[in-house]
Amino acid sequence: MKKEISFTLNGSEVTVTIDEHLCLIDILRGPLGQTGTNEGCREGECGACTVIVDGQAVNSCLYPAFEVEGKNVITIEGLQEPNNKLSVFQQAFVDHGAIQCGFCTPGMIMSAKALLDTNQNPTEDEIRDALLGNLCRCTGYVQIVEAVKQAAVQLKNKK
Ligand code: FES
Ligand code: FES
Repeated sequence: MKKEISFTLNGSEVTVTIDEHLCLIDILRGPLGQTGTNEGCREGECGACTVIVDGQAVNSCLYPAFEVEGKNVITIEGLQEPNNKLSVFQQAFVDHGAIQCGFCTPGMIMSAKALLDTNQNPTEDEIRDALLGNLCRCTGYVQIVEAVKQAAVQLKNKK
C-alpha cells in the first residue's frame, strides 16, 4: 500500500510517497537520491547504512520508512560543507588513514556524529562502543578511533 510521509532530511522538509513495506534506506537511495548511505548486509549487521533519526544512530536497512514521519533525519550528505571543503569528520578520517575502500565510512561517521552530538569528550571506550555496530573490512579500527578522537577535539574547538 502507498502512503505519503513528510519529514526533515538534512534540514529540509521533504514529502515522498512510499510503499509501506520499504525501509528508510530504500527511499533515501531511491526517490530522495541520497546515495551516500551505503547498503551492505541489509540485515542490521554491518552498519554501512547508518543514519541519524531524532539524534539516534539507526540501521536504515531495518528502519521502516513510514516511521520517519515527522522526524529529523540526517545522512552523510547533511555533513557537507560549502565550497567542497572537507568536513571535520572527512578531514580526520583522511589525516588518520581511516579510509581505504570507503564503503563503511559514511556509516562510521554517522555513528560517530551521533555520539559526539551528545558527548563532547568521549573516552576511547565510549568511541569504541558507539562504533560497535559498524564493521570495516579494510582499515584497522585503531585509525578510525583516532580519527573520531580528532573530530571530537576539532568540533569542541569550533564551538
Ligand atoms: S546494510 Fe544495514 S546494517 Fe548492513
Ligand atoms: S574502509 Fe573498506 S570497509 Fe572500511
